[in-house]
Amino acid sequence: MVNNKIKNICCIGAGYVGGPSMAVLAKHCPNIKVNVVDINEERIRLWNCSDLKKLPIYEPNLDEIIGKCRGVNLFFSNNIKECIEQADMIFLSVNTPTKTKGIGAGYASDLKWIEASSRQIAEFARNHTIVVEKSTLPVKTAETIKSILNSSTLIKKNIDLHNINKTFSILSNPEFLAEGSAIKDLENPDRVLIGGEDEESIKKLSKIYENWVESEKIIETNLWSSELSKLVANAFLAQRISSINSISALCEATGANIKEVKKSIGTDRRIGNKFLEAGPGFGGSCFKKDILNLVYLSRFYGLNEVANYWEQIILINSWQQKRISELIIKKLYGTLSEKKLAIFGFSFKANTNDTRESPSISISNHLLDEGARLNIYDPQVSGKQISENLVDKEIDIFMNPLEAAKDVDAIIIMTEWKEFNKLDWDQIFSLMRKPAWIFDTRLCLETDNLRNIGFNIWSVGSNNEN
Ligand code: NAD
Ligand code: UGA
Repeated sequence: MVNNKIKNICCIGAGYVGGPSMAVLAKHCPNIKVNVVDINEERIRLWNCSDLKKLPIYEPNLDEIIGKCRGVNLFFSNNIKECIEQADMIFLSVNTPTKTKGIGAGYASDLKWIEASSRQIAEFARNHTIVVEKSTLPVKTAETIKSILNSSTLIKKNIDLHNINKTFSILSNPEFLAEGSAIKDLENPDRVLIGGEDEESIKKLSKIYENWVESEKIIETNLWSSELSKLVANAFLAQRISSINSISALCEATGANIKEVKKSIGTDRRIGNKFLEAGPGFGGSCFKKDILNLVYLSRFYGLNEVANYWEQIILINSWQQKRISELIIKKLYGTLSEKKLAIFGFSFKANTNDTRESPSISISNHLLDEGARLNIYDPQVSGKQISENLVDKEIDIFMNPLEAAKDVDAIIIMTEWKEFNKLDWDQIFSLMRKPAWIFDTRLCLETDNLRNIGFNIWSVGSNNEN
């Protein structure tokens, strides 16, 4: 029988999803003990650090919740075995990157971390355990997890007494938070999606969310719809970005203005005004990986036209990055050798320290390949993390934007950090080599003021006569 209440939750994976999502769950469910576990000892040490400024991820308002719940009903630990043993419900929040070798390399998800954690659950879980997929997974992964969990109980039944009553139920509960607004998204989600076959388990998870989410927002589906919906949601979001970026190039060519086009189409309620910011192409750990996954899945089922359609979104995204790099080189007289440029912003978007798939990395690499030397500044990304992304390259990292601007020919705004508008641009102008260029790939600067100071400005999607 499985009708007892959930009292103990374990989350495997203390990353960008596991940490914030469990912090918000613990905040709203004081009667549930939440253990977040990880194999990465350094990550767990930082989650337990008394200085809340040193948490392993930067996310607005996360430190406040950790400060309140940690050590009360929220715990971070490397003791995976014990936390699995105690849990009634286990969230799988491990990484699922694109495979780099073997069948499906470059497209399919590498599920080795999902498999490893499923094996750990199979070994250590007791009684009935609800296993919840929170990671983003290819459709039908629940079948793989089920097979790992069930085969282990069969083998061990005769030799290990505590396995006799070991049973599992699998749910899919994908996460839709965006980095930089994770706490806001978790506190007030547009929807919570729960896919599964076992009504009782679905109800148990639903009850947990109902502590802070209106029940009308909780959508129940079958397992496969839930797994697929997560991939499709990311694909649709990324599709809008590639669409607007493709139009930004057309604006530059024709004299139309992307901000005006965005407003004109975004006021149509059927289109809506969200996710229409032109920029240097989407980054982040998920859009590319999830679309590649969708492409792989489509090809696997013989749907080549469907696969080609979605793959185009990634191709346009890379093209936008290349296009911007090339026009920077062109504006700077066709060569970057002996030139120093400043990159302002290294994270893949504002309000996060995450640099995975950041357009800053690819654009920096294009410029470095052309012989530039780069001064890099980001308000949240550590120098170590920047260096790890640009190993053995001609870069200098700065903690102060004014110092980073000294003697450079151009500043390239790569991330829309709010503070960039508040910089002392008069002083920056005086520090730079002339003509002094600003390339605003995010449309985040007030360019009229900057033109008056004397800067040459290029903004994505605008008529850029200088
Ligand atoms: P992450 O890399 O930040 O965190 C994953 C963590 O899992 C790592 O700390 C890793 O050490 C740990 N781990 C891996 N195998 C383990 C094991 N066997 N036992 C214990 N710990 C293990 O990844 P993330 O950004 O949190 O993403 C996790 C999943 O959530 C991915 O599938 C991703 O697609 C999905 N997702 C991410 C976001 C996001 O904004 N980052 C949003 C929604 C969904
Ligand atoms: C995205 C989705 O928004 C989340 O719903 C999803 O849960 C998550 O992926 C995931 O599965 O990992 P995230 O990547 O954190 O979240 O951030 P977004 O706000 O979606 O931004 C992604 C990239 O697109 C960033 O580089 C951002 O700068 C860029 N972007 C976003 C644009 O260029 N224009 C826009 O209008 C919006």
